[in-house]
Amino acid sequence: MSAATTSAAIALRPDLASVLDVNLAAYQALAEDYRVTSPLRMRHAAEWLSGQLNDSRKPLTGRALDIGCADGSHAFLLAEHGYEVTGIDFSPRMIELARNRRPDRDGPLFLEGEFLTGKFRDARGELVALEGQFELVVANAFVHLFPKPVDDEVVKRALDLVASGGTALFSTTVEDSRREAYLGKAGADGTYVERWRGHYPKEDFLSLIRDAAGDRFLITDLPTTDMRGKAWLTVLARRREAPDGRG
Ligand SMILES: C[S@@+](CC[C@H](N)C(=O)[O-])C[C@H]1O[C@@H](n2cnc3c(N)ncnc32)[C@H](O)[C@@H]1O
Repeated sequence: MSAATTSAAIALRPDLASVLDVNLAAYQALAEDYRVTSPLRMRHAAEWLSGQLNDSRKPLTGRALDIGCADGSHAFLLAEHGYEVTGIDFSPRMIELARNRRPDRDGPLFLEGEFLTGKFRDARGELVALEGQFELVVANAFVHLFPKPVDDEVVKRALDLVASGGTALFSTTVEDSRREAYLGKAGADGTYVERWRGHYPKEDFLSLIRDAAGDRFLITDLPTTDMRGKAWLTVLARRREAPDGRG
């Protein structure tokens, strides 16, 4: 294989460790942008979440997990809805923002760590395992940050964390064609980063979730729009209740 072919192949399918390194650096750099845009994102997240949660037609109680929680916007909203919330994120800066949002009040538990390694640290630096399952698992704008076929593994692991009768939410932008690469992103504060990003047409994203879920889950999808008017898709996966209650 020529050097040119090798580097093209690497560019198309980089190893996961490189993707995680690049993405971590990107979200560390974007943390300030998240802090500055927080009020606007909170307003949008409030509308977005109540739309999704109403549609799930489930009582809003129990444990919720926000995977890739960033500065904690969704985690705080879920806590206001009555959930006992855990947020996880691998960016120390994002987790710091989340923990400092309302340090005076009891709020969500924020854990720092990479999702696939499953090793998380609390505010004292102690290793904490994600115990048990959750009535709600949110992976908003998260799955598309992993190269194929790791995206499938991420969805499966997220689904494994859903309790019997519980719901998982996965969202991504709706694109015309499937592609994945290191793509640029500009923050509102002018920060420019590159991170690994998959683009999925609606049917591709739906199939990703459906195939991972099998017949253990009921799948529905909801179109949404972001603050800039861009089309998004949220896929809800509701875990069927098993007769023994274990799903
Ligand atoms: C696109 S942002 C979405 C943030 C939030 N869910 C939202 O919808 O506003 C993705 C977040 O996931 C985190 N993240 C990305 N890859 C991760 C990984 N492998 N493990 C844990 N967190 C990760 C990033 O640090 C970032 O905060």
